[in-house]
Amino acid sequence: MMQRIAVMTSGGDAPGMNPAIRAVVRTAVSKGVEVYGVRQAFAGLLAGDFERMTSRDVSGIMQRGGTILQTARNQEFTTPQGQKRALRRLNEHGIEGLIVIGGDGSLRGAQALHELGFPVVGVPGSIDNDIWGTNMSIGVDTALNTILDAVDKLRDTASSHERCFLLEVMGRNCGYLATMGGILGGAEFIVIPERPTTLEEIGRILEDAYMRGKSHAMGIVAEGANLKTHEIAEYLENHEVGFEVRVTVLGHVVRGGKPSAFDRLLATRMGVAAVEHLLAGDTGVMVGLHGRDIGTVTLVEATTKQRSTSESYIEMADMLSK
Ligand code: F6P
Repeated sequence: MMQRIAVMTSGGDAPGMNPAIRAVVRTAVSKGVEVYGVRQAFAGLLAGDFERMTSRDVSGIMQRGGTILQTARNQEFTTPQGQKRALRRLNEHGIEGLIVIGGDGSLRGAQALHELGFPVVGVPGSIDNDIWGTNMSIGVDTALNTILDAVDKLRDTASSHERCFLLEVMGRNCGYLATMGGILGGAEFIVIPERPTTLEEIGRILEDAYMRGKSHAMGIVAEGANLKTHEIAEYLENHEVGFEVRVTVLGHVVRGGKPSAFDRLLATRMGVAAVEHLLAGDTGVMVGLHGRDIGTVTLVEATTKQRSTSESYIEMADMLSK
């Protein structure tokens, strides 16, 4: 059995990464395996920035957002030369297996190490919920709760002034957060990368809502949608749809905050499962939530298959917005 493993967080941080690190460290320690934390993701891997982690080092981090190991986006690691250097660093430190917690780019990095013959297990951590092979990624639930909190607050001021608020949320290629925010926050429309929309269409929806007597309106726009928030606002202001328009961009606020109970549990289960798979030699895989269970898919599938927001949720958002 492996004697020494490492864990890292990579890509955009997501609430729940700390509970995942905690679960990895404590599961490994309980099985008599040494754990090293890699600081600052692949940059730390290339620099050999490893630190021994004991059970005490992960005390009191369950409720903390962000990641105590820090994270980064690293270009150098994408080159074959960079990947070989990373492998060398792992070997120099006697590390026999690695757990990578992160989004699609990070899992591609994990897959590259796996292809070089290094035992790796991936854990999906990204607020976007754009990773194939898991129903939910770590951080999504907390991010969604933050969005709903903002929607609820904006609604108070929107209805007091008869305004339409455009709320921009994260989601570069995936409109999951905007769609669910739309359904659960009761938005009049959503604008998401999966379904290109026109300015005229949005104008019609709002005019209709105004004429039917709604006291306010809300549109949730994913940052990666075909229309940009400011151009929608400009169009609406110039076309007198009835409501005055205001814009709120949530930005990185959505990535912060203490992980929800759901994310703590998901991260904990995934962290435990990742260590179990790694030690059992079941590597080159990503753990994922399949129904109620934690299962695995290969890293190849997780990084090559496209995940986008389910059509039925998009239809639901439209149907319930009227
Ligand atoms: O991938 C997660 C994510 O939060 C995206 O939704 C967003 O587009 C991106 O990260 C922002 O990245 P950065 O923090 O590097 O600006």
